[in-house]
Amino acid sequence: MTEPIFLDGHSTTPVAPRVAEAMWPWLTGKFGNASSQGHHHGRQAADSLETARAQVARLLGAEPREVLFTSGATEANNLALKGVSRRLPEGSSLAVSAVEHRAVLDPARRLQRQRVPLTLIPVNPHGQVTPDLLEQTLPLTARLVSVMWANNEIGSINPVAQLAEVCHRRGAWLHCDAAQAVGHIPIDLDHTPVDLLSLSAHKFGGPQGVGALVIRRREPPIPLEPLWEGGGQEHRLRPGTPAVALAVGLGAACDLAHTTQLVEAQRVATLRDRLWARLQAGVGDLVRNGHPLDTLPHNLHVSVPQVAGDRLHARLTEVSVSAGSACASGHLEPSHVLRALGVSESLALASLRFGLTWATTAQQIDAAADHVIAVIRELRD
Ligand SMILES: Cc1ncc(COP(=O)(O)O)c(C=O)c1O
Repeated sequence: MTEPIFLDGHSTTPVAPRVAEAMWPWLTGKFGNASSQGHHHGRQAADSLETARAQVARLLGAEPREVLFTSGATEANNLALKGVSRRLPEGSSLAVSAVEHRAVLDPARRLQRQRVPLTLIPVNPHGQVTPDLLEQTLPLTARLVSVMWANNEIGSINPVAQLAEVCHRRGAWLHCDAAQAVGHIPIDLDHTPVDLLSLSAHKFGGPQGVGALVIRRREPPIPLEPLWEGGGQEHRLRPGTPAVALAVGLGAACDLAHTTQLVEAQRVATLRDRLWARLQAGVGDLVRNGHPLDTLPHNLHVSVPQVAGDRLHARLTEVSVSAGSACASGHLEPSHVLRALGVSESLALASLRFGLTWATTAQQIDAAADHVIAVIRELRD
């Protein structure tokens, strides 16, 4: 049996060959602990870690010392939200957008249970937080705001620079979960002054299990408490032996993105448009979700009217594609993102999220479109 076509690039991506090559020495011969700088092996590890840190910083227009390695975006988000909230003055509140990933919503709700007041910022019909919506909903007490750079379901990109301006004027720090944006669209933190940014290597050709929290140097400094104790690594903010091989992989993925990101974005956007054109030609009444222009180049999110979501997903055996819903306790639940957009429950359940990767080809797009169209037609017969 041939493998299904992988079009779930928002969940993860294959490791790019150049990334695997960069990691290989650290999976085989090299093995030093970057904290053991008294000898050759330790210094070699520390040097590789610092090279990787510089590669991450360069992609984002940050400084290497502002980059803190984590196990991924989930940890980076937890560290940003809990680490900052726990150091804020009494009476401070937290605000996050209604369409955040669970890796932001869950820590925000935990903080709320621990008596940090929480405001959910609403979104426009494209799933974006606009400066006006932020201005209208942000309470005077808000000192930390978390709004994602781009949405992991519908791909919409937020006007992050303008949101940062509102936050700063109102005396709040802005954290951005950029897990879906980094490596896919240009990010220059010198021109987009967010204060904290989370990223994840496996969303753009890097390995799973590594990411970073970028903490901009500000005056006064952003207050941050570590989640764990046990060592002085990563400026005492993330104790534990750093995973050098994984960090090297993240650095290599950033390096690759730095040189190929613009061309690659055009390539996948062309393929994404081809997929949408084919699907529309085959099934006239598909609904496309998300912003038509301000959207990730590798995202296509559609809802399929007059089809039951569970049957649609069960029949799509030739493509690995994500449902626009979360499978909670054994049954499909409409996604909170689509619900925030006002999409009906049945339509939300019959949704498909396509995510293209660096490995996606035109042939795969055509074959995937044919399969999806055939399944929808069969289900409607
Ligand atoms: C927006 C967003 N944030 C956070 C995460 C979690 O990232 P990681 O797998 O690195 O913990 C994801 C991955 O699905 C995501 O899409």
